[in-house]
Amino acid sequence: MKKQITALALAAMMAAASLAGCSSKPAETSAPETEAAEETAVETKAEETEKAEAENGETEAAAEQSENKGTLVMATNAEFPPYEFHDGGEIVGIDVEIAAAIAAEMGMDFEVEDIAFDSIIPEVQSGKADFGAAGMTVTEDRKQSVDFSDSYATATQVIIVKADNADIASPDDLEGKTIGVQLGTTGDIYASDIADATIEQYNKGFEAVQALTQNKIDAVIIDGEPAKVFVAENEGLKILDEAFTTEEYAICVKKGNTELLDGINAAIASLKESGELQKIVDKYITAE
Ligand code: ARG
Repeated sequence: MKKQITALALAAMMAAASLAGCSSKPAETSAPETEAAEETAVETKAEETEKAEAENGETEAAAEQSENKGTLVMATNAEFPPYEFHDGGEIVGIDVEIAAAIAAEMGMDFEVEDIAFDSIIPEVQSGKADFGAAGMTVTEDRKQSVDFSDSYATATQVIIVKADNADIASPDDLEGKTIGVQLGTTGDIYASDIADATIEQYNKGFEAVQALTQNKIDAVIIDGEPAKVFVAENEGLKILDEAFTTEEYAICVKKGNTELLDGINAAIASLKESGELQKIVDKYITAE
């Protein structure tokens, strides 16, 4: 009896060890990464293990297999830390890792396409990209153009001002002010509702923040997590305590692409259940 238990325990330990050794993704998905790794400069840190595994031998077989299963093209705008941003030659971030995990669960290759934020929905609509993952907020308006997955994060729109600004203390104080936003974002949409405000639209959120540091504008409306990153990187700025709105991030697909949407939702559910999603978030966002 004792011996049996030991054998079982050993087997369990070995199983656990082999699971731990194969990174975060299911083993069967390790091979198809190869083609993506060769085709694009962008690859996630999480993918590196698998790329190494693939390079250890079955490269050709892997490439063939991936051709069969196809490549998922993710459209994003990598100007949005910690969700997607450039790190050296790579595009990394929460969305990239979630998308990589989704592709892995679906046994597909995965590629990142970095475009303007307001081009993501058209790119998905045209089928040039399979899905958009860009800290994209679910809105009724966007739902007319694309289908959204289940939410994978709750976010806020916040207001950034100069640290010594005594004039703007809450969203109400934005009336009549000059406000910087990233073009086509929810910050842009909400800012346009503020009475008498002048809206300056920038291609990158970071550019709006720069304009603020240069006193060209009075405030920036942007998502809470990138705001924290930008404020940490630039001296003399602060985020107002009162958030502007609360919203949900989700992945968008072409209208009617239920097969992909189901796959994405199943992957999100299993990433949530396994704790993997939280692990990805924790890697990029340190709890306060
Ligand atoms: N959450 C905002 C929106 O959906 C901003 C997203 C910006 N994302 C990006 N990758 N630049 O409109």
